[in-house]
Amino acid sequence: PDHICSPQASLQHLLSAFVDLDGNGSICDYELHELFKEANLPLPGYKVREIIQKLDRNKDNEISFEEFVSIFQELKSSDIAKSFRKAINRKEGILAIGGTSTQSSEGTQHSFSEEERYAFVNWINTALENDPDCKHALPMDPNSDSLFKSLGDGIVLCKMINLSVPDTIDERTINKTKLTPFTIQENLNLALNSASAIGCHVVNIGALDLREGKPHLVLGLLWQIIKIGLFADIELSRNEALAALLRDGETLEDLMKLSPEELLLRWANFHLENAGWEKISNFSLDIKDSRAYFHLLIQISPKCTEEDQPHTDISMAGFSEKDDLKRAENMLQQADRLDCRQFVTPADVVSGNPKLNLAFVANLFNKYPSLTKPEGEGIDWGLLEGETREEGTFRNWMNSLGVNPHVNHLYGDLADALVILQLYEKIKVPVDWTNKVNKPPYPKIGTNMKKLENCNYAVDLGKMTAKFSLVGIGGQDLNDCNATLTLALLWQLMRRYTLNVLEDLGDGQMANDDDIVKWVNTTLSKAGKTTKISSFKKTIQKNHIVGFLMNLFEKSCQRTPETKL
Ligand SMILES: *[C@@H]1O[C@H](CO)[C@@H](O)[C@H](O)[C@H]1NC(C)=O
Ligand SMILES: *[C@@H]1O[C@H](CO)[C@@H](O)[C@H](O)[C@H]1NC(C)=O
Ligand SMILES: *[C@@H]1O[C@H](CO)[C@@H](O)[C@H](O)[C@H]1NC(C)=O
Ligand SMILES: *[C@@H]1O[C@H](CO)[C@@H](O)[C@H](O)[C@H]1NC(C)=O
Ligand SMILES: *[C@@H]1O[C@H](CO)[C@@H](O)[C@H](O)[C@H]1NC(C)=O
Repeated sequence: PDHICSPQASLQHLLSAFVDLDGNGSICDYELHELFKEANLPLPGYKVREIIQKLDRNKDNEISFEEFVSIFQELKSSDIAKSFRKAINRKEGILAIGGTSTQSSEGTQHSFSEEERYAFVNWINTALENDPDCKHALPMDPNSDSLFKSLGDGIVLCKMINLSVPDTIDERTINKTKLTPFTIQENLNLALNSASAIGCHVVNIGALDLREGKPHLVLGLLWQIIKIGLFADIELSRNEALAALLRDGETLEDLMKLSPEELLLRWANFHLENAGWEKISNFSLDIKDSRAYFHLLIQISPKCTEEDQPHTDISMAGFSEKDDLKRAENMLQQADRLDCRQFVTPADVVSGNPKLNLAFVANLFNKYPSLTKPEGEGIDWGLLEGETREEGTFRNWMNSLGVNPHVNHLYGDLADALVILQLYEKIKVPVDWTNKVNKPPYPKIGTNMKKLENCNYAVDLGKMTAKFSLVGIGGQDLNDCNATLTLALLWQLMRRYTLNVLEDLGDGQMANDDDIVKWVNTTLSKAGKTTKISSFKKTIQKNHIVGFLMNLFEKSCQRTPETKL
């Protein structure tokens, strides 16, 4: 248990967890497959069968317990052990297997923000206040480092992820009681895999970092998780009333291109304008004196429209207070009356902490958007389509790889191909950033030409270097945000990425389409599905492949027996 995070120990644990699911005294490939999944090392079917072949000395296609024991010593130094080691040591990829990342183990001291620690602890305490599974950890003391200890078993993290994006984590897969180093490790892997599935960038963080509570890494991950939750509904397709923020001459499409941060700023300014107050251009310097916040609170607070309607009259008594800190405290007391005293202290307001003030405003928006959906003004609501599951997965996949900037809108944010070019690097296709790529800020005149050139380059790289099949796709299509054609490129990128990951898992052995088909075949038949697939080129539609890859990407969060396809 002391060395549970070492690869050997994990392997040992996997093997000592030897179980015989169907109780016939031996282990078959299905059972082994389950074991690998349990150990958070899902392996393709062909790999599992290879292992069986290696272990099965009397060639009856099953491994008896004796065979297993007799071979155990050898196994330690075998190729299988090597691939495990490699899998466990992976620093990047769809499988966030535990361990300490190189970056975090360099021994350098990282400073962290006590303001953030204070803010996040209070937020978590409130959010999970009534969750019986978190009783052992909550409430945490915001003034101490107890956060880092309390998150160490992974339960609170899993809960926060599921709160930010509901249904990310299957309740049953969290080990909540009788925690051992192994089950803790499982919980932490589950948290990391799930965080990655909702689009957090977790490349530089491992289970051990969380277990040990490395402050800068824990806070970094928490902020990503919290932000995803805060921003989830700041999106036109989720809240049509945001169309009230349209300015003269703008279309819904223009508004749809804005990032959540930009929408929040618009929203605040919309209310400030109604209040006759000056606009702000950021949640930093411009809010330091709390005066904009006072006006915002008045605008959004529930008004007394009918008798007996609950309402809150915001008091402006503190508005003309001379001292900045006292004014901020007065403002926050009013926010408290709306149940929105979150994320910032008076000092955070006065110092203009941009991150925490952004969170404060996002929470205000979520609780009191106070917008009315405009009616019958020639707005083409047909444009408003929520993201499909497929699109969401692609987006989360890119974000989990740490592309910059963060992708909020699958097509619009790819229109200059910069993110796509970063994805090429992830699949080991070199990009000539110096000579072939136009980087922002783009010139005022000819912006789109610069973006189009990038798109052309991205398509060329796909055709010439990555050898993708991109018949009939041009840079213009990416630049035009053509969904079908952009997806055609994206799924090939994701597919190549996945094959690379499988290859790494197989210790350098080439994984190819056939391996995947075999794996899918096995998984399907074991899950009692009658559908079989024969080859990528023939039967499988593009959508099936995408579905399969998404499944591969997502299943790390769902250790349920059925593999959905
Ligand atoms: C995750 O969220 C869903 C829906 O909100 C809920 O039914 C489920 O119990 C949650 N799981 C956990 C682990 O909290
Ligand atoms: C952890 O949880 C899983 C899913 O509920 C369960 O199958 C497994 O037995 C648990 N492990 C331990 C050691 O309790
Ligand atoms: C915020 O906006 C003001 C102008 O309103 C500007 O002077 C200041 O530099 C901005 N601060 C940040 C952090 O962007
Ligand atoms: C995207 O491109 C395809 C193929 O050229 C075309 O049929 C389709 O109409 C385009 N979609 C849009 C929305 O322009
Ligand atoms: C998958 O199953 C189908 C139907 O049983 C079979 O024809 C095909 O050869 C299998 N493919 C692989 C790669 O195992």
